[in-house]
Amino acid sequence: MAVSQLAYVGIGVSDMARWRSFAAEVLGMQVVDDGDDGTVYLRMDEYHHRIALHPSGEDDVLYVGLQAATPAAYAAGVAALRAADVATTPGTPAELESRRVLDLVKFETGGLPFELGVGHQTRWDPPFHLSRPMSGFRTGSLGFGHVVLRSENPQESVRILTEALGFRISDYIRQMVFLHCNPRHHSIAFQPQAPDLPRSRDKKMWHFMVETNSLDDVGTALDLAARTGTPLASTLGRHSNDLMVSFYMVTPSGFEVEYGWGGRLVDDAVWQVQRHDRGSLWGHKVQLEAALAAPSAPVAR
Ligand SMILES: [Fe+2]
Repeated sequence: MAVSQLAYVGIGVSDMARWRSFAAEVLGMQVVDDGDDGTVYLRMDEYHHRIALHPSGEDDVLYVGLQAATPAAYAAGVAALRAADVATTPGTPAELESRRVLDLVKFETGGLPFELGVGHQTRWDPPFHLSRPMSGFRTGSLGFGHVVLRSENPQESVRILTEALGFRISDYIRQMVFLHCNPRHHSIAFQPQAPDLPRSRDKKMWHFMVETNSLDDVGTALDLAARTGTPLASTLGRHSNDLMVSFYMVTPSGFEVEYGWGGRLVDDAVWQVQRHDRGSLWGHKVQLEAALAAPSAPVAR
């Protein structure tokens, strides 16, 4: 299995100041200025970073970083991509430095930008610390969370990730397919591109998800979202497939972040793929009309 975890994402941002305050005050992430080009890194654990904010203005995902556990797994993954007729581009020295990896290749599927890398930097000086009182993020070998992306060709995207990179299908909800590469229920999910879908509209990224170690961290984030005027995209709810208790906020880039706790783990030895006809057991009521009308409005204090 070539991919061991979802290691990082890169985001092109128009309003860096709002992202910095949102990440620190609501999400609880450590905000680090570490790039000569204005890149701001968000830390969730000992990794150098889990999210890179680039001041390039797209307000969408720029790349999704998949990690190979070992150089051998990396080499096998690169070879499998090429065998599957996927064009791969070696990372430039500047990209390796920006991502803090020993090596990477870039590839696309369904119009979505992926990177497969190996040798991700961890950092203990300065030590990682959360930016608000909370128990922390559930990361480690599970990766930083998950991303839900809108592929131009979901069948092809699923084929490449499963046949070349070792992802397994977790389940389906209506048109969506959920994939795992470690016990986290899903690290990537694909949704077809559909202009009539209201959420995140024309963006490649519908949302990314981060999981906390305590339900209280989700509750306090709800309070902080209200206090900072952060728009909610949905109410608190529990998902039908991964059983995550979560709510959704609109980020300063207009796509969403799911902030959750309590996701179930997949044991491949006994897991059986299911299809769900609804996304949530309860809650997750869409709050979107008001939220999407004001994603770029100033944050009220
Ligand atoms: Fe999600």
